Amino acid sequence: MPARTAMYNANALKIGLFGANCSSGRSATKVPERWSGSWPDCLRLARMADDAGIDFMLPIARWKGYGGDTDFHGATLETITWAAGLLAATSRMTVFGTVHAPLFHPLIAAKALVTADHIGEGRLGVNLVVGWNEGEFEMFGVAQREHDTRYDFAKEWLDAVKRAWSEAGDFDVAGRFLKLDKVRAFPKPFGGTRPIIMNAGSSPVGQDFALRNCDAFFTATAGSRTSLEANARRVEEIKGRAGAFGRDIEIYTVGQVVCRASQQEAEDYYRHAIIDNADWGAVECMMALRNITPANFSPDEYAAKRQYFAGNAIGGYPFVGTPDKVAQELAGLSNAGLRGIAVSFVDYLGELPYFCAEVLPRLADLGVRQTRQEPRG
Ligand SMILES: Cc1cc2nc3c(=O)[nH]c(=O)nc-3n(C[C@H](O)[C@H](O)[C@H](O)COP(=O)(O)O)c2cc1C
Repeated sequence: MPARTAMYNANALKIGLFGANCSSGRSATKVPERWSGSWPDCLRLARMADDAGIDFMLPIARWKGYGGDTDFHGATLETITWAAGLLAATSRMTVFGTVHAPLFHPLIAAKALVTADHIGEGRLGVNLVVGWNEGEFEMFGVAQREHDTRYDFAKEWLDAVKRAWSEAGDFDVAGRFLKLDKVRAFPKPFGGTRPIIMNAGSSPVGQDFALRNCDAFFTATAGSRTSLEANARRVEEIKGRAGAFGRDIEIYTVGQVVCRASQQEAEDYYRHAIIDNADWGAVECMMALRNITPANFSPDEYAAKRQYFAGNAIGGYPFVGTPDKVAQELAGLSNAGLRGIAVSFVDYLGELPYFCAEVLPRLADLGVRQTRQEPRG
């Protein structure tokens, strides 16, 4: 497992791309260069990222768009099949598949994940999610369980998957939710280990689930969305709680990057793409799903929340600035004890080359990443 959790390299700070399987990625924007999420674009992006030494790609399992002028996340590629395709086309990076435990039978998931893991020769990661979006569950005809029970179910589900990945003989599962007789599952994951498992629960119960059962925990709480100092406090708190369960867990966060040659240029583009051209219909739909509506707040409070959602909540903390500034802030995450970050760009293919050329070498100079690997021949 150590080689898998290290993503087979010695970078102290792992950098991944977040949300590229979804139309508009992590930016609810109307700008024409917004992300397509199409397969040809994902494939080009993955090859470019793999060559440049990006460590991982993390998709979003999203089944229904949020509407608005752009139908934000209206077109999404299913994540396990997406990961399998990208793993076949790359040679270094870890690619995650994201599974909604209540929507996938554990044995089908276990086998689909093993298949992708073999394709990637041990480079598959799994993001286990329990779901929160009522409209998606209605579409499947599946009732969502009461919030905390979702994680009881996820525990049983994950235990079944781990057993399918490890038991040499037949086994039965006789749990509160799952009854599986004489289970037999071959092959096992690649190389006698198993995929890295992450979770990003934000409730106390969700976090406990991650700390007890997973290898990596992604946090995108209010602190990390607005202040880097808050990250350090958060890492300390989470590590303390994991330690109380006798576990050492890798902690990651998410963020959006707008990196340009001058600070002014970066700030202008961030404002242009993320605020001035926000798809407010989609932003308001996402807010309403979390019960944030004009009926529940004063006009000023609602306006502030709307601004925060577009600017910080959807994409995560905005890293906006010159290569020096972005590199300093990212190195700060590593110094705060975070293992990595999954970032998004408005236009991943257009912006990644500059980020890789300018920010990655600075991160190596700052001692949080190795010098850039040579591209594949
Ligand atoms: C990095 C990250 C990735 C996530 N990916 C997904 C996803 O793909 N699909 C999904 O439905 N929820 C996703 N979530 C939401 C979480 O899994 C979780 O449901 C949410 O943070 C609410 O936490 P709770 O379940 O503890 O209440 C993600 C959250 C984060 C921070």
